[in-house]
Amino acid sequence: AFTTVFAALKGHVDTGSQVTVKGWLRSKRDSKAGISFLAVHDGTAFDAIQAVVPNTLENYESDVLRLSTGCAVIVSGELVESQGKGQSVEIQATDVQVVGWVDDAESYPIAKKRHSFEYLRTQAHLRPRTNTFGAITRVRTTLANAIHNYFHENGFNWINTPIITGSDCEGAGELFRVSTLDMANLPHTESGAVDYSQDFFHDEAFLTVSGQLEVESYCLAMSKVYTFGPTFRAENSHTSRHLAEFWMVEPEIAFADLNDDADLAEDLLKHVFTRVLDEREDDMAFFQQRIDNTVIDRLRTVIDNSFERMDYTQAIDILRNSGKQFEFPVEWGVDLASEHERFLSEEHVGRPVVVMNYPKDIKAFYMRLNDDEKTVAAMDVLAPGIGEIIGGSQREERLEVLDARMDPHLRDELWWYRDLRRYGTVPHAGFGLGFERLLNYVTGMENVRDAIPFPRTPGSAHF
Ligand code: 4AD
Ligand code: MG
Repeated sequence: AFTTVFAALKGHVDTGSQVTVKGWLRSKRDSKAGISFLAVHDGTAFDAIQAVVPNTLENYESDVLRLSTGCAVIVSGELVESQGKGQSVEIQATDVQVVGWVDDAESYPIAKKRHSFEYLRTQAHLRPRTNTFGAITRVRTTLANAIHNYFHENGFNWINTPIITGSDCEGAGELFRVSTLDMANLPHTESGAVDYSQDFFHDEAFLTVSGQLEVESYCLAMSKVYTFGPTFRAENSHTSRHLAEFWMVEPEIAFADLNDDADLAEDLLKHVFTRVLDEREDDMAFFQQRIDNTVIDRLRTVIDNSFERMDYTQAIDILRNSGKQFEFPVEWGVDLASEHERFLSEEHVGRPVVVMNYPKDIKAFYMRLNDDEKTVAAMDVLAPGIGEIIGGSQREERLEVLDARMDPHLRDELWWYRDLRRYGTVPHAGFGLGFERLLNYVTGMENVRDAIPFPRTPGSAHF
């Protein structure tokens, strides 16, 4: 039997008991008095546990003195109140077994205490051993569980929409092609172009950019549904908020309009923020102290206040009257750039804001046309420090109006999507929450590349 570092540190094990912990060395210090101090972490808690190892151990010289950061060890001994500062308990070790050596301490890539996040991205296989990435990993897990938990408690079904698909939901042409073609022997059409109709075992296929279109069909049967899975965008963006592969949460609700959609977004975020503050106190204290000293307040503010909501038209007025010099000029009809989104949420409101009813020309075909015929029932949730974390809309449920917004080839391709408007159509709405952007918002980390274990961005398919 063994004890997790979490159980030992958090009082789940009485002092005076014999414990065994298994983990990796974060650091070691050898005192002149013949005692070594090992800091052992196992991923369960933010802090490592200190093991005090006396030189009376049989393998003190042969093993303990040779240990370095990164070695895997099993340490047994008595859990005692700590004499030193910095920890409440420690292990008075009576046995240290080395399970895995670090073959060359000098070359261990994360031996130093502080590394830049840029550098750690080149060590994606080892960065989870740092305290920052341990904390990110646990918060990511808690957020995912809180999201599933929220939907489960509220009667939503989780729909596993396909990753390989024929449709470009967002219509932005940012698709990764899935190919089974023999690159050395490409088929061609009569005109000489590559014949992609034979691509995926005789069909054209892509990695999904969003599960929305497919999840709408389940929504119009199950009433409340959501997807939560990986999505892909072949956009050549080199920013701190874009990944080529990211995870998205997409709820979809039937007999609902845009206000219901915004209510759902607000309720979901409040639920998950409450859970993360409750469950990951130690990790959140770290983010607060070392990454961004506003994170905890920021989450509390979201929990305690209702979201500010404004129309796009109103947002444009605010931006134009702000007196700020923006890089991208503002006028009615433009898509909001990140600087505009941040101004609205950070400086104007000071917390997340829901902007609703955007011009139809800058939004996707499936968004419901408003009575003014100039805007659609779209909403974005903009967050301080990040900008857009949620994009959603009420869907166009009227076949004629939808058809008018689709070009003819899309009407053919999305025959099944049109069917949903022919057979028992109802008003419905949904949104997509970018999971890595959410994690950045919660932790104060600045780059989405640090919010996913193995970031995929242009030029980084491997590491
Ligand atoms: O606004 P988007 O493109 O909306 C959709 O895909 C809709 N079909 C969702 C729906 O209504 N069901 O993307 C939704 C969210 C964004 O607000 C953002 O948080 C995130 O997904 N996102 C990205 N995150 C990381 N890297 C990227 N390249 C992202 N693109 C979008
Ligand atoms: Mg969007």
